[in-house]
Formats: sequence, C-alpha cells, structure tokens
Amino acid sequence: MSINAIVLAAGAGTRMKSPYPKVVSSVAGRTLVNWVLDALSGVDVSETVVVVGSGADRVQAILPPGIHSALQERQLGTGHAVQVGLAALAPSSGDHVMVLPGDTPLLTSETLANLLDAHRRTGSAATCLTAKVPDPTGYGRILRDGWDHVTGIVEHKDATPAQLEVDEINGGVYVFDAELLAEALTEVRADNAQGELYLTDVLAILGVAGHSISAHCTNAAELAGVNSQDQLADAAKLIRQRINTEAMQAGVWMQDPTSVYLDADVTIEAGARIQANVHLVDGTSVGAGAEIGPDVFAAGSNIGPNSKVWYSVLRGADVGETVEVGPFASLRPGAVLESGSKAGTFVELKNTTVGPEAKVPHLAYIGDTDVGARANVGAGTITCNYDGYDKFRTVIGEGAFVGSNTMLVAPVEIGKNAVTGAGSVIVDDVEEDALGIGRSRQENVAGYAARRRQAAENPLSDRSTS
Ligand code: UD1
Ligand code: MG
Repeated sequence: MSINAIVLAAGAGTRMKSPYPKVVSSVAGRTLVNWVLDALSGVDVSETVVVVGSGADRVQAILPPGIHSALQERQLGTGHAVQVGLAALAPSSGDHVMVLPGDTPLLTSETLANLLDAHRRTGSAATCLTAKVPDPTGYGRILRDGWDHVTGIVEHKDATPAQLEVDEINGGVYVFDAELLAEALTEVRADNAQGELYLTDVLAILGVAGHSISAHCTNAAELAGVNSQDQLADAAKLIRQRINTEAMQAGVWMQDPTSVYLDADVTIEAGARIQANVHLVDGTSVGAGAEIGPDVFAAGSNIGPNSKVWYSVLRGADVGETVEVGPFASLRPGAVLESGSKAGTFVELKNTTVGPEAKVPHLAYIGDTDVGARANVGAGTITCNYDGYDKFRTVIGEGAFVGSNTMLVAPVEIGKNAVTGAGSVIVDDVEEDALGIGRSRQENVAGYAARRRQAAENPLSDRSTS
C-alpha cells in the first residue's frame, strides 16, 4: 500500500476574524500548517500536496521544500478541497491517501503512524481519527450503529439534539482508498447547514455502498482544531507545555514552566537554568550551566555555557561562555560578547564586539565598536557613531580604560592600554599607553562658598559673592 497526503489549508478561517489566512497563524514560532507538515514528515508518505486558496501566496511562501500546493479557487468545503488535492497528485503515485486539516497543530507523527497501521490492519476503505472529549462543541460527531460500527459523521451545525450528545469527535484526519474516495466525492452534495461540500459525508456514502469504514480513537489533546483566537491560545498553551516538559526531561531546570515561552526551534543544553518570565524565540540557543532570567527576551541569539543573563532583551546577539548580561541590558543585532566579558546595568550594545574579559558594566551606549580584551568602559560612556548621515566605527584597544562619561566621537581609536579622562569628548585617536583628555580645565574659587553663606545670613551686607 502506498500513501499520499493531502493537507487542507485553503479555508479563510472566518472565525479567526483576522486579515491573514488562518493556517499561517503561529504557535511557538511555527505556523499551524507547518506543525501539521512536521508531524506528517515523520510518517512514510510518498507525495504531499497542500491545498491552498485563501491567502494562497502567504501559505505557499511558508511551505517547506519538496511540498507542492494545489489551488482551490473557491472554498466550497473540505470535500471540494480534497477533489482539488487528488487532481494535483501524480496519477500512479499512491493507492491510498491520508487527508489532514491544516489547523490541528498538536497532531504527532506517532498518532499518524498508528492511524496508518490501523488502516492497513483493518483493510478498510476509510479510517478516521477520533477521540472522546468532555466538550465536543463545534466538532463533527462520529455516528455508530447498534454493533458499534461507524456509519458516518455529522457536523455540529447539522446534528440533532441526540447526535449532539455524542462525545466521540472527528479529528479531521483520515486515510482513504484513493479510488473509492474520488468516486464517493462525486456524490457529495451541499445540502447542509453551511451549504458546503463536506468531506465528512464521504464516510456514509462509502458505508452505504457496502465498504467498511473504521475509526482509530486517540487522545483528545492532539485533535484540538484551531478555528478562533481563543482556540489558538489554547493550542499554544498545550504546545508550550509539551516543549517545556521535553526540555525539563532533557535536564533543563525551570523555576516556573508556566512562565517560560520557548519557540519550537530553540535549543537548551542540559544543566541550563531558566528562571521565571523567559521568552526564547527564533532559534535561540542556550549552553549548559547558563542561567537565564528572571525576565529575559532573547530572539535569534546564542547564549554560551555558564553565562548569566537576567532582566534583559537580546536580539541577534552572540553571548559567549561565562559572560554576564544585565540587569537591564539591551543587546541588539551584531552584539558579540566574548568569553568572560560583561554588559551590565542599562547598557545597550549594537554591532559591537566586546573582547574576552572586557567589561561594560553600567549606563552605556556602544555601537559599531570593537572593544579589545580586558578593556574597561566606564559608566556613562557613549559612542557617538552616527553623524545624522553615516555610521562610523570606534576601536577601543586591549586593556584600555575608558573613563566615566566619555563621548567617543567616531571614527576614533583608543590605543592599547590607553586611558581617557572622565567626562572627555574624544574626537582624536589616543595612542597606545597615552591619556586622552578633552574637557575644560577645572578652576577653584577660594572662599566663594563662605562669602555666599555670609551674604545669605546677613542681608544688609554687600550682596556680591565673588
Ligand atoms: C472540520 C470537519 C469536522 C472536524 C473538524 C476537526 C468537515 C466538514 N468538518 O470542521 O468534522 O471535527 O474539522 O478539526 O470537514 N478547508 C479548505 N477548503 C475549504 C474549506 C476548508 O481547504 O473549502 C480547510 C481549512 O483551511 C482547514 C480545514 O480544511 O484547514 C478544515 O476546515 P475548517 O473550516 O476548519 O473545518 P471545521 O469546521 O474545523
Ligand atoms: Mg477547523
């Protein structure tokens, strides 16, 4: 038996009340349809076609390589969508076909493989994936006869009060004999509450024609369909639990997994510690022994082993080993912190490399800069990297000591082991081992304060204080 797959992703998703097609809604950094395709990639199917329609360009743009699409110009229902999918499959590529909705992100490869096994074992013309749920509202109900054989599926909107009591729901995933499916689809009519060509009607059509149809019952959580924003949030919660549990089982410590948000493509090594309120997204990686949080958002960033990042935002940052970031640091794209370095309180780094053991401990904006190994950048230092038109680089040499509140007007270079005086505006390069100082000289006026005090205490005396 060879199997093809059709994923239905053409619907508008009207109940989402969103301008975007439903199946591109994202959960843990992956779209609904990509979650389904991901589960499908774990089972043995020869060809997969995704039926697209509403917002077709957007859906086509996110399909993985090797997965092709078929256009359903008008969304006439799931039955019609499957006809479009069947027509797009290579004629001799498979004698059976698995149909999946594009809006059930919790499906797993294991469940799909079990469904295929059940279909092969029973030799049925159709096998549908079902589950018993406490609240079946909105789902199609599985109808069975007195011998418990499946006789068909009725949609919630078309169900009688007695049928609404049925707690076994249709997951929308099926395996069919491809030829029998194509034949049965020609008999489907849109005489129902939604005026659509329902795929679900195929089951009764096949049953009445004397073919055997069966159901494979699985755990309910996997069949959760996303039709509205609240169902999207419910699915996201379940996926988050799954991701966090997997991370903890792999040796990651979490203070409070209910407040940890990890994208599916995030990697965390065993022995890392995640405190509360942490968001790691967009391929972020965390090394062993690192401590992240509380309150960290990191996107597209790497955090090396044994580093500590707390109360901070990282976007496209590369944090090496044993680095300290925060509290309240903002690391922007191109921020590279080499091993043993530090970006401390209220420090913003952009397109800047901080060398090994170098420190930027407090209150600084360092952009387009190379900070050499072991250099120290004093509190209040700012690289004036932008003149309103262009950006310029700053170089701070190895072991340099940038005094507090230094303005480094780029392009400018502070030599190896050089020093700048606190409060300086540095516009020229400072050579190796030199002191660069650029500020007005201090003048002390002897007795000034005493004379002022005297004048205040004795209003009739001469008011002059100088
Ligand atoms: C469908 C099933 C229902 C099942 C539920 C499981 C039907 C008639 N009903 O209902 O029995 O319990 O899924 O989640 O099949 N689509 C198209 N073209 C269309 C219409 C829909 O591609 O013309 C796609 C949608 O994008 C979606 C999928 O088919 O990914 C299912 O459609 P949806 O409208 O979500 O059906 P449900 O009401 O959830
Ligand atoms: Mg649905």
